[in-house]
Amino acid sequence: MNSKVNGSPPSHRAVITGHGSFAPSKILTNNDLSEMVDTSDEWITRRTGIKRRHIATDSESTAFLATEAAKRALDKADLDAGELELIIVATITPEMVFPATANFVQNTLGAKKAWGFDLSAACSGFVYSLSIVQQFMENGQLNNALVIAAETLTKITNWKDRTSCVLFGDGAGAVVLERHKDRNGILYSNMYSNGKQWKALNCQAYGSRYPVGKKLDDPNKIYMEIYGREVYQQAVRRIIESIEDCLCQCNLSINDVAMVISHQMNARIIESVAKRMQIPYEKMFLNIAEYGNTSAASIPIAFDECMESGKIKRGDIVIFVAFGAGLTWGANVIKL
Ligand code: ACO
Repeated sequence: MNSKVNGSPPSHRAVITGHGSFAPSKILTNNDLSEMVDTSDEWITRRTGIKRRHIATDSESTAFLATEAAKRALDKADLDAGELELIIVATITPEMVFPATANFVQNTLGAKKAWGFDLSAACSGFVYSLSIVQQFMENGQLNNALVIAAETLTKITNWKDRTSCVLFGDGAGAVVLERHKDRNGILYSNMYSNGKQWKALNCQAYGSRYPVGKKLDDPNKIYMEIYGREVYQQAVRRIIESIEDCLCQCNLSINDVAMVISHQMNARIIESVAKRMQIPYEKMFLNIAEYGNTSAASIPIAFDECMESGKIKRGDIVIFVAFGAGLTWGANVIKL
């Protein structure tokens, strides 16, 4: 599905007015992992670009991470939580089965006027969430929103499986969006999914198919399972398609784009996209070395870092692009 830019432009758009991120202070390095499973810093670095990841402790839940990132984004936007109208939390590691993580965040922030929900689209959750806010704001039904992506993937990681445990980390990123008439904001979004390939990345327990109260045929179903090679090939193809569609629909060339902020799943995937599309490496932001794959949270964490370091600024055009479990993928084009 695409939210088109052709035809007459909307009178108002969703503008990002605040950003923030939070990562737990506990660190797990590649060398730490090499003492837990048969792996090495050399293998992990060469195949993924990851050097370390942040790990949530028992007391650091998804809602906690989400709220910390949200506070920073609200501060930047200079918006009181009491004024918020909508809170979306993109996550596949929610606080609990229900109620939504968004309700915990709402309560802690004191966002009494806001309604909220969680969005489950794995690594594409942040991109999907922005497109929802885009629609509400263009249609005049929303003045402001808080979009958070927060994950505690290490809580569903199988620490005995070297093929998956080296990849993931925990963290949260958030943005505040406000409806503006004279500014640019989200110009375009595309979203796609293919449920046929659900098995490529999955975690089967905790739902109605394998409730936790029932004995599992395979005890490993409580953990994430990934078929990395399959995902790798699909990811490169779909990310390229999404970016090309964005450029085409918005009449842009890559020269007009200040930064492509991709979901950080593997540095080699991102480098491969850059090479094939002839995007200069400095325009493909990478911070996976520090965080590993934080699923939906990786784009807003990266965005926050880009803004804070001055790599991008107001007026720049950026593309957010994601690919992940579902399978799901998509992108947003934003004029900051
Ligand atoms: N350390 C050392 N050796 C390892 C490790 C490890 N941690 N993991 C696997 N190997 C071995 C394998 O056993 C295999 O050995 P063999 O040749 O003797 O059989 C060899 O390394 C190669 O394994 P591959 O799986 O083919 O390695 P590949 O180059 O594909 O890299 C990786 C694996 C990094 C997972 C890659 O496929 C990838 O990045 N895939 C996509 C990323 C991904 O799926 N991310 C999750 C996204 S989902 C989400 O974000 C929620």
